[in-house]
Order: sequence, then structure tokens, then C-alpha cells
Amino acid sequence: MEFETIRVSADGAVGQLTLNRPDRLNAIGVATMQDIGEAARWFDRRPEVRVVIVRGEGRAFCAGADLKDPPVAGAAPGEGRSWAERREVGQLGLRMADAVEQMRAVTIAQVHGYAVGGGVVLMAACDLRVAAEDAVFSIPEIDLGIPLAWGGIPRLVREIGPALTKELVLTCRRFTPAEAKAAGFVNRVVPAAALDAEVTALAAELAAKPPVPVTITKEHVNAVTRSMGAGLTAFADGDALLATCFAPESLDAARAYRERTVGSGKRKG
Ligand code: COA
Repeated sequence: MEFETIRVSADGAVGQLTLNRPDRLNAIGVATMQDIGEAARWFDRRPEVRVVIVRGEGRAFCAGADLKDPPVAGAAPGEGRSWAERREVGQLGLRMADAVEQMRAVTIAQVHGYAVGGGVVLMAACDLRVAAEDAVFSIPEIDLGIPLAWGGIPRLVREIGPALTKELVLTCRRFTPAEAKAAGFVNRVVPAAALDAEVTALAAELAAKPPVPVTITKEHVNAVTRSMGAGLTAFADGDALLATCFAPESLDAARAYRERTVGSGKRKG
């Protein structure tokens, strides 16, 4: 199946979903959100695919929302569009993360380099996470003048608890794979050179298990976390984005943040 912004493949029981915009560190714009949703449905139509590895092409897993894609970036939020159209765009990130989380196959996030904002949410939507030692995590939305959306808050609270979620989201500070592992957010941390082999072996191990109990276990854990409320509160995340990104101080924050990260005044690294 051909997509504009991702590569999708299946080799027997193991599939791959590769974010494929390395020139933008696999930042996620509208097209990628739609592609990932469609890819989830593509995998669901292939019962032989038991495990899907979610990874990024190039030197990063994912640099989060595409700050050069105005409908996503917040700084120029959909001029000329109706409110209903803007709301649709606002909800796309949530739909994308939900689609990944609800796939039938077990998903493994294979994470190297940067995982920023929406990239962390995409990781959280996967069932398992394996990170390279050189991975760098951060959730900078508040510096960008917006709340963390895409169902990120309930997923993080589910995985790492409320206090650490608040700290990481409020401070926007970077955190390491070691800290993420200690918090229970990543399952394994491995040397960068071993990442591919480690994830391939884990995928093969899971794909060789009896299918029905694997699927039931995934669905059962998801049902338990849903019953604890995780995910139920994110239905209006797109509205929260729209409500905040027009506030003058948010527009100022977004402008300044984009300038220093992806603009001409950017600091390196
Ligand atoms: N959206 C669009 N383009 C992005 C991007 C994003 N989120 N993140 C990186 N890019 C682009 C850069 O503009 C650059 O493009 P250029 O070569 O045309 O200038 C390219 O990807 C490489 O990024 P660069 O900033 O040169 O790499 P770096 O190693 O110096 O820094 C980051 C990497 C991730 C620290 C930095 O790119 C960054 O902070 N990006 C913004 C991440 C972010 O805040 N995302 C939103 C989360 S809600």
C-alpha cells in the first residue's frame, strides 16, 4: 500500500509502519495523521499480521506536530476555514492515536533519536516501547502555547501516573530513556546499534505465540485501562487546542517557539 508520508509493509506475521519524512524528523502533519489512521485499518484487514513495528526513518523517531503545517501548528490556525473544518483538523491527532491503540495487532514503538510531543503520544499509543540509549524525549506543547492534546494526557497518566505527567508536561523538560524506563514508560532500553535486532527479535517472539490469547490479553489490558477512565476524557482534545491556540499569548508563544526550533533563529540540538 502506497502512502504519501509513511511506509507500510507486511512480511508474514510482522508488519512495519515507518514514518517517512526524515527531512522534517518525521514531524506529523495532517497527511501523516490521515495516513496512519488508514494504515491501522490496512493492518486490521490482514489477520496474518500479528505484530506491527512503528518506527521512524532517518535520525529521529518523530519530532511531533509539524510546526510548518499551519493547520496543526496553531500559529496560523486554518485561516479561511469554517469552525467545523477547523474542529475536524483539531481532532485528527486524537483519531490517529486512537487508531494505533485499537489496532488488532500488537504494536511495538521502536524509538531512536528525538521523540517530541506528539511523537511521545504516538509511542504511548503503542502496546510496547523499546528505546535506544540515545533517544531524547520531551513534551514541549506548553512552551508552544497549547495543551498536550491527541489523547496524550490520559495516556501518560495511565503509563507514568499523574505527578510525573504533570511535571514533564508543565516543565517541558527533556527526559532520558533511563528515566522513561524507571517510570515504566518504555519496556526496554538498548544500545542504538542493537535497537533493530532487539525489536525484530521481540516481534518474532510475540508473533510466534498462540494468536487468540495474545489478542485477548491486549484487548483485556486496554479494557481495564478504559474502565479506569484512561482515554475517556480526551474526546474534546481538538476543541481544547482550538480554544487555546487563538489566545494572544498562545500565538506569541507559538511564534517564538517556532522561530527558535524550526525557524531561522533556531538553536541547534
Ligand atoms: N515540524 C516541522 N519541521 C521540523 C520539526 C517539526 N516539528 N522538527 C524538526 N523539523 C525540521 C527542521 O526545521 C529542519 O528542517 P531544515 O533542515 O529544513 O531546517 C529538520 O527538521 C531537522 O531539524 P533540526 O532542528 O535541524 O534538527 P536538530 O537536531 O538541530 O534539532 C529538534 C532537533 C527535535 C530538537 C528540533 O528540530 C526541534 O525542537 N523541533 C521541534 C519539535 C517540536 O517542538 N515539535 C512539536 C511538538 S508539539
